[in-house]
Amino acid sequence: MVRVNELKSHDGESVTLKGWLYSKRGKGKMLFLLLRDGSGICQCIVKKDAVPEAAFETAKGLTQESSIILHGVAKADERAPGGVEVVATDLEVVQVAEPYPITPKEHGAGFLMDHRHLWLRSKRQMALLRLRHRILKSFRDFLDNDGFLCVDSPIFTPNACEGTSTLFESKYFDETAYLTQSGQLYAEASAMALGKVYCFGPTFRAEKSKTRRHLTEFWMLEPEIAFADLEEVCDVAENMLRYTLQQVLEHNRQDLADLDRDPTLLEGWDRDFPRLEYDDAAKMLMQWQEEGLYESEFKPGDDLGAPDETMLGEHYGCPVMITHWPAEVKAFYMKQDDKGRALGVDIIAPTAGEIVGGAAREESLEVLKQRIQDHDLPMEAFEWYLDLRRFGSCPHGGFGIGLERTVSWISGVEHVRECIPYPRTINRLTP
Ligand code: 4AD
Ligand code: MG
Repeated sequence: MVRVNELKSHDGESVTLKGWLYSKRGKGKMLFLLLRDGSGICQCIVKKDAVPEAAFETAKGLTQESSIILHGVAKADERAPGGVEVVATDLEVVQVAEPYPITPKEHGAGFLMDHRHLWLRSKRQMALLRLRHRILKSFRDFLDNDGFLCVDSPIFTPNACEGTSTLFESKYFDETAYLTQSGQLYAEASAMALGKVYCFGPTFRAEKSKTRRHLTEFWMLEPEIAFADLEEVCDVAENMLRYTLQQVLEHNRQDLADLDRDPTLLEGWDRDFPRLEYDDAAKMLMQWQEEGLYESEFKPGDDLGAPDETMLGEHYGCPVMITHWPAEVKAFYMKQDDKGRALGVDIIAPTAGEIVGGAAREESLEVLKQRIQDHDLPMEAFEWYLDLRRFGSCPHGGFGIGLERTVSWISGVEHVRECIPYPRTINRLTP
């Protein structure tokens, strides 16, 4: 068996393809079948006098998404999609599909989401899944090549990491557990063992927001580095994202084309990301509001909202790093500078908004205890975390990058629900 994306190196040879019928046209003595097998889509020509009679009749009756095995000869042809087509010599049907609910005509978003398990077979969704795979692989390859080790964090946790308002509760025998919002606190512990680590896994937030940037279940990769300061955290994030852009450009040109995504945009982002402090970003946002360029409730001291992130992303036209935040809008664990500003960084990307949140962590036991109190968090639950400050505490930092937001940014598909195979949102738990 040969896969569609390997056909080019089998020019002139007999091949067998196994896959599904994407579409069919032609009549009389010649049929054109588009066969997809997950690696690509290939045009197969079925000529009446080149295949057994029964095979031709079968081909005529094939419905969309029928599963088939096709034998033929690969033929390089510049005009064919993918540069190669297959001239059939025989055809077997595995199953003739029932009438397929998703046809080439337009469907509403709700209908498509209800049929997500089938919608995944369309060209654009397959391209998104391939892109998602490449992006995650690039993150991991970049870190693995840089001496990071993957150490998993748990999903059932006894306490909050990113504030208590968005926790999903779960019964856990006689106790209450929470689904993790972030693997960070455990990654910090792992970093104290191995120096440079990352965790990758599903994270959960009971976000009531219905924006196109929020999921209740999303996948996050979180590097954590012992002895790093904020600048080093920023450098790792920037280099990892630039490597990812390069890898996508090298391996996923066809997927970008299937998504109508202009690759020169990605090329343009492979540059030093501008870095600015929150105060400067706030000034720009206030000025744009005064000039009537956009509307927002933002005022200095506030966290950024979606319209503010969009403006910043558009203004720079590339990812921008915002550092030195008002401590009030950031998590309890962030280290502060001598002006009381949180040493955190958000990376805002065009159209996708915040894709990265990171920080230098508070390393002093006393300060951290005070923060936990100030944030009304239960001290007992954090005793193990405080141990990291009792036994060989050191400056350290890291960041979390949301996979779906990154896919959204790179693909240009603005709704994150399309950037994950089976989205979970405030009003969707199926399929
Ligand atoms: O900024 P956040 O909340 O940071 C943390 O969780 C830190 N503990 C990470 C760390 O330092 N190790 O989330 C990080 C990223 C965001 O920038 C965004 O990409 C993604 O996670 N994210 C979401 N993605 C989809 N839906 C949501 N509801 C998301 N919330 C956060
Ligand atoms: Mg954040």
